[in-house]
Amino acid sequence: MTAHEELRRPRAPLPAWSPEDWRAFPASQQPEWPDPAALERVLDELRDVPPLVFAGEARTLTEELGRVSEGRGFLLQAGDCAESFDAFNANSIRDKLKVILQMSVALTYSSGVPTVKVGRIAGQFAKPRSSATETRAGVELPSYRGDIVNDFAFTAESRRPDPQRLLRGYHQAASTLNLLRAFTKGGFADLSRVHAWNQEFVATSAQGRRYDALAQEIERALRFMSACGIDLRAEHQLHQVDFYTSHEALILGYEEALTREDSLTGEWFDCSAHFLWIGERTRQLDGAHVEFLAGVQNPLGVKLGPTVTPEEVLALCERLNPDRIPGRLTLVSRMGADRVDEALPPLLRAVTLARHPVVWACDPMHGNTFQHASGYKTRHFDDVMRELQGFFDVCGAADVWPGGVHIELTGDDVTECLGGSESIEGDQLERRYETMCDPRLNARQSLDLAFRISELLRR
Ligand code: PEP
Ligand code: CO
Repeated sequence: MTAHEELRRPRAPLPAWSPEDWRAFPASQQPEWPDPAALERVLDELRDVPPLVFAGEARTLTEELGRVSEGRGFLLQAGDCAESFDAFNANSIRDKLKVILQMSVALTYSSGVPTVKVGRIAGQFAKPRSSATETRAGVELPSYRGDIVNDFAFTAESRRPDPQRLLRGYHQAASTLNLLRAFTKGGFADLSRVHAWNQEFVATSAQGRRYDALAQEIERALRFMSACGIDLRAEHQLHQVDFYTSHEALILGYEEALTREDSLTGEWFDCSAHFLWIGERTRQLDGAHVEFLAGVQNPLGVKLGPTVTPEEVLALCERLNPDRIPGRLTLVSRMGADRVDEALPPLLRAVTLARHPVVWACDPMHGNTFQHASGYKTRHFDDVMRELQGFFDVCGAADVWPGGVHIELTGDDVTECLGGSESIEGDQLERRYETMCDPRLNARQSLDLAFRISELLRR
C-alpha cells in the first residue's frame, strides 16, 4: 500500500459510543444537585435546543490546529477564568475580543505564522474546586462551582446548585456567540480597523504605543498593496477573522445534553463549543471526563500539571486520539515557572517518540498562582513570562514546535495580576479586583505578553 492508499483505507467502524456512556464511570467535580429530577428535566430541555456550533466548524478548527501541530501556525487560546452572569454585557465581550485581536496581530506580524484564535468564552462557566465545601467563621457551605452551577455569595441559598442555571448558561453562551459572530464577520475585525482595537487606557501605555506603530505599518502595507492594483475588497481574509469558542468540559450532564450526531458523517460532536478541554483535576484515564470526550469529534485539550507521568500522557493520547489525527489533541502544559524545565522534557520526548501529532501549548497561569499578603489570589507577570520562556526553551531543545499559549485575561483595566511593564504592585490589587475565580491579565499586560511571546517565537 502506498502512503496515499494507506490514508484512504476504509476505517474500521467506530466502536459504539453514546453521549450518556460516561454515567457508568466515576465523574469527579460534579455538583451535588439537590433535586435530581429537576436536573433531568432541564437536561431534557437542553437536548432539544439548537446547537451553539456546527460540526463543520469544529472540523475546520481541527484542520487549523493540525497545521499548528506541524509548526505552520500558533494557537492563542485566551479569555476569562470564569465568565459571570452578572458581568455579562456587550462592551466586555467586545473589549475581550479587541485584546485578543491585538495580541494575534502582534503575534502574526512578528512571527510570520497565522494565529488560530480560540476564546475561553461563550460557555466558560464551570469551575473545578480543590474542596467540595468552603468554611468561613465556622459555617460550612458547598464551594462555588461557577455561575452555571451556583452563586458566589456565601449563603446556603446562593450556594445550592440550581439546574436552571444550566439553561441560563446556554442562553448566555448563545448570545455571546451571536455577538462574537457579528463582530468577527461584520466589519469590526476588518484589518483596516486595526487601530480601532487599541483601547484608550491601553493606547497611553508603552505597549499601546508599540501596538500603534505596528498598526501603522500594517496600514501602510495595505495602502501599498492597494496601490499595486490588488483589490483588497476581494480578499475576505482581510475583512473577517475566524474566532472559535472553548471551555472546560466539566459538567458532563450539560455537555451530554448538547451533544449532537452530525447528519453528514454520523459522528458525534459536543455542540456547546468548538473546542473542549479536560482540566488538570479531571483527566483520570478511567474517569467519566476522558470517557465522554473520547467519543466526541471536536478538537480537544488536556491540561498537564507537574505530577503527570509520560505513561499517563501517552495513554491519554492513545485514548483521545487513537487515529492520530493532527489537530485533534492539544496538550496544555501548566507546570509552574519553577517546574517546567524538569517536568516537561520527558513528556515531549515520550509523545514525539510515539509519533502523536499533538499541539503543545503552554498555560503559564495555573501553575503560578499564590496568595498575596493582602489576601488576594494573584500571579506575577514575571512568573508567567518565566514559565513561557522555559516552555520555549525546552521545546527548542527537544526540537518540538511550541504551538501555542493558553492565557487568562480580560479586556478591562483590572488589577488582578502583579507586574508587567506598567507594573501593578501589591497594594494596588484591591483597586479593581473583579474576577469570579482566578486573577486575569488586564489588556495592557496581555498586549505586553503578546509582544514578548513574539520575540520568543522569532528566535
Ligand atoms: C482553568 O483553566 O481555569 C483551570 C482550572 O485550569 P487547570 O485545570 O489547569 O487547573
Ligand atoms: Co483559572
